[in-house]
Amino acid sequence: MAGRRTFIKTAALAVPGLAVLGASKPQWVPSSSLPDEEYWDEIRQLYALPDSRTYLNTGGLGPSPTPVLDRYNTLTAELQGISETGHHFIEEARAPVSQFFGADETEISFTRNATEGNATIASGLRLSVGDEIIIDAHAHPGGAIPWLNLLKERGVVVKLFEPDAPTQDEVIQRIVDQMTPRTRVIQISHVTAPTGILLPAREIALLAREWGCWFHIDGAQSAGMLPINLHDIGCDSYATSGHKWLGAPHGTGILYISKDRLDDVFPTEVGAYSDASYTLPDQLEYIATSRRHESGTRNAPLVEGIRTACAFMGDIGMERVRERGLELTELLRLGLEEIESIEVLSPVRRELRGSILTFKSSRIDYASLNRTLGSIHKLRLRVVTERELNAIRVSLHVFNSPAEVARIVESVSEALKM
Ligand SMILES: Cc1ncc(COP(=O)(O)O)c(C=O)c1O
Repeated sequence: MAGRRTFIKTAALAVPGLAVLGASKPQWVPSSSLPDEEYWDEIRQLYALPDSRTYLNTGGLGPSPTPVLDRYNTLTAELQGISETGHHFIEEARAPVSQFFGADETEISFTRNATEGNATIASGLRLSVGDEIIIDAHAHPGGAIPWLNLLKERGVVVKLFEPDAPTQDEVIQRIVDQMTPRTRVIQISHVTAPTGILLPAREIALLAREWGCWFHIDGAQSAGMLPINLHDIGCDSYATSGHKWLGAPHGTGILYISKDRLDDVFPTEVGAYSDASYTLPDQLEYIATSRRHESGTRNAPLVEGIRTACAFMGDIGMERVRERGLELTELLRLGLEEIESIEVLSPVRRELRGSILTFKSSRIDYASLNRTLGSIHKLRLRVVTERELNAIRVSLHVFNSPAEVARIVESVSEALKM
């Protein structure tokens, strides 16, 4: 393993994705399948995060590593310098980003965030009065409100299933229990935002197919946390943010619509570039790909930022990223469970776990515990008030470390003594 100085110098010059393309290998490509702590320390150096504050809120907003920020800033300056949109960068990003998600390039459109993708599906599915939608009871507002909007506007019925189940089979059963001949859509949070439950997407896709209903995944918490292969999962659509676990610039997202189902989604926002052709006053033919959901002038450097972020994560290796998240959350669980009064709300079983761990204390109110952990111990956490869970969420990603996990455990322990 190269020493830190060498690593950082090389990293500053290298472009993520070169390893994928078979060119010279950036230093953040691990030299073994199980990288050591020195390797993860080097990865940490690629983030501008100060050591004085421990950042544990990737589930809210993820920092971009330097190679992503540099690429975004350089391209912005270049395009501003010649005053061009650089839209061709968007087209060039489509194939590698699709590949990262196990999709075809005709199936991906670039959005501003996960909410936009969720809303495009909800409002585009031509649903009407009495049609039923099943979503998880832990859905984030960005996943739930687009459907509640349809309830207000078109009289669809929104039904909930509780995702916090002891097994994957029980999750499926709870969805089945909500199904009727009027069920048109099942939507899940791939990984739930409040407590990080990983839901069995592939099995739910089979169920949805069997019942002939649409299956949409809100993947805001899964892209960049887990390896994702959308063809393998078999969902009809998937929306995610770039600015969480992927570490893409703020205001980025991706929407996938399976090529077989493209025409089932009425494009609610269209304009220049959505068309294959149009003639005034009465002709419009949509472009034959998911790109029809993008219109007007776009910020190409943001999309180049997504491309670079996918390449960076791909270079580390998404299996390794997933394992690292599981390792850190398990360490944290073991540490927190030693502390009296602490209850861990996130699942213990591996197949139900993401890189998020949510806990509460029966001794101190979650809000004051979070205040102490933030102001005195400098831990940037997030409170979970959804479903009145009244707890604290910890997100652990590639730039976090076992030392930081130990600091969380110590800090919680101290805060409870106060
Ligand atoms: C599951 C889920 N869906 C949607 C969102 C909203 O994401 P965005 O702000 O990118 O639209 C979040 C944000 O935390 C989320 O966790």
